[in-house]
Amino acid sequence: MYEPYYRPRRLRRNKKIRSMVRETILTPNDFIYPLFVVEGRGIKNPIKSMPGNFQLSLDNLEKEAKEVYELGIPAIILFGIPAVKDAGGSDARNDDGIIQRAVKTVKETVPELYVITDVCFCEYTDHGHCGHIENGDVDNDATLGMLAEQVKTHVRAGADMVAPSGMMDGMVGAIREALDEEGYENVPIMSYAAKYASGFYGPFRDAAESAPQFGDRRSYQMDPANSREALKEVALDVEEGTDIIMVKPALPYLDIIAKVREQFDLPVAAYNVSGEFSMVKAAAQLGWIDERKVALEMLTSIKRAGADLILTYYAKDAARWLG
Ligand code: PBG
Repeated sequence: MYEPYYRPRRLRRNKKIRSMVRETILTPNDFIYPLFVVEGRGIKNPIKSMPGNFQLSLDNLEKEAKEVYELGIPAIILFGIPAVKDAGGSDARNDDGIIQRAVKTVKETVPELYVITDVCFCEYTDHGHCGHIENGDVDNDATLGMLAEQVKTHVRAGADMVAPSGMMDGMVGAIREALDEEGYENVPIMSYAAKYASGFYGPFRDAAESAPQFGDRRSYQMDPANSREALKEVALDVEEGTDIIMVKPALPYLDIIAKVREQFDLPVAAYNVSGEFSMVKAAAQLGWIDERKVALEMLTSIKRAGADLILTYYAKDAARWLG
């Protein structure tokens, strides 16, 4: 009978030793919690495809921000949904727009909570695309000027960090230049550097009412089949001066997170997107999986793959479970 010489099970025998040799420890400090803000008062619209997530008016955003902070989650990322959308996404560039007022509200209520803004146009345009449309496609360079205006309004409102998500070529450089010109050279950029044209954004587009009204985003977001291209995208953002590089989505792209972690020295963020959240929620609601076990396993795996920061709709639940 063969007797194994080395026995890995020795280090799995009980809880104590398992915890002593554990390589990846998830903490609430790893999380960034996404929030959706709308006009009005007393509004807390449940997002049907994302149970437990809501579109919040500013008064409810105050309560939410306090709760998030008390759970030990260091940061939120805000998405604004304006009352009126137009071709140029004008609310996105208005010092008095929904997201600008949301930033002010949070910074006044819980100044210690780190506020990141999503910098994009799809929530603000009537066509639902991430920039200026010319001949049926997003005009890259015209959009860069719009992004430069948009970030200035976010930072003037008090945003601690900006996160451009539109996958325009040169967006990081354009934003860095705009911020520096205004004297905001200390405001960091977290770029959605490798963002894929993913089916996993479905529930988010309900939440942000941002589905494209024609076509799709494949002329700016990446082909899920590509990996080398992700490294090129990240390298460009690094050259242009990004501070944190994001890979999105997370679970189907753990290989990309791992490669980016290996090849670059900047902090890596991963966006555990709406569809990843909703799949787990739905299966849990049907009683098919153990939600807590699966959600924590998913988040741990994203961290193990190399993410320093995880944007996740599970942030509050996970902070409670880890607490
Ligand atoms: C674009 C943006 C999207 C998400 C974050 N920023 C949607 C898109 O590209 O269509 C998706 C996040 C998620 O699915 O949770 N502003």
